[in-house]
Amino acid sequence: MTVKEAIQARRSIRKFTDQPVIEEQMAILLEAVRLAPSSINCQPWRIKVLTQREDIQWLSGAPTKGQRWIAGAGAVMICCADVQRFVEDSATNVRFLRDSGMLPPEMLAGLEEYLSKAADAQPEVLRWAAAANCAIALSQVMLQAVELGLGTCWVGMYDEAAVKERFQIPEAFPVVAMLAIGHPAESQGQRPRKDLRDILL
Ligand SMILES: Cc1cc2nc3c(=O)[nH]c(=O)nc-3n(C[C@H](O)[C@H](O)[C@H](O)COP(=O)(O)O)c2cc1C
Repeated sequence: MTVKEAIQARRSIRKFTDQPVIEEQMAILLEAVRLAPSSINCQPWRIKVLTQREDIQWLSGAPTKGQRWIAGAGAVMICCADVQRFVEDSATNVRFLRDSGMLPPEMLAGLEEYLSKAADAQPEVLRWAAAANCAIALSQVMLQAVELGLGTCWVGMYDEAAVKERFQIPEAFPVVAMLAIGHPAESQGQRPRKDLRDILL
C-alpha cells in the first residue's frame, strides 16, 4: 500500500470486531509515533497504551462524554505532552544547532529571545504548541494503522482530570488527544470534504 492509498482509505472507525490489537501491531504503531517529526526534534509525546477491557469500557462512559462506541476498541492510545521537556529539549537542541554552526546568522540574532519567550510562555500556550507536535505523531499512527488493516478514531472530547486520575498520568503532562484503535467492523465512504478551491488561498 502506498502512502497515497493509505491517506485515501483512512476513515474514522467507530465499530470494531472483537479481534485484539496484538503486541506486534502496537509496536509498529508506537514506532510511527517515535519517528514523527517535531519542532527542533523535541519529541514531546508521552503515550499511555490501554488494552485492558475494563479500562477501555470505563473510558467509553462519562470520561468521554458518553462516547459508548469506544468500548469496542481493542486499544486506546492516550497521548500526553511533556510540556517541561518540550521547552527544555527545544532549548538544548536549538543550542546544539547553534553551536554546530548550523543556523543562519539571521536566526542566531533572535535565538536567546526566542528561547526565553518559550521558557516564560503561559502553560496553555505551551500545551497547544506541544499538542501540535503530538497531532503530527498521531496522524502517522492513523495512516500506519490503515496499512495494518486497523481502524482508528481520534477522540478529542474527554474529561481530562478523570482520565489523568484513573491512569495515574503525571499532573505536568496534559492529555492532548486519544486514539481508539481496533479491527474495523464497518466500512465507510469518504466523509464530506471542502473543495480544493475552498482551501487554497
Ligand atoms: C482533533 C479531532 C478531534 C476529534 N474528536 C472526536 C471525538 O471526540 N469523537 C469522535 O467520534 N470523533 C472525533 N474526531 C473524528 C472526526 O469526527 C472525523 O475525523 C471527521 O468527522 C472526518 O471523518 P473521517 O476521519 O472519517 O475522514 C476527531 C477528529 C479530530 C481530528
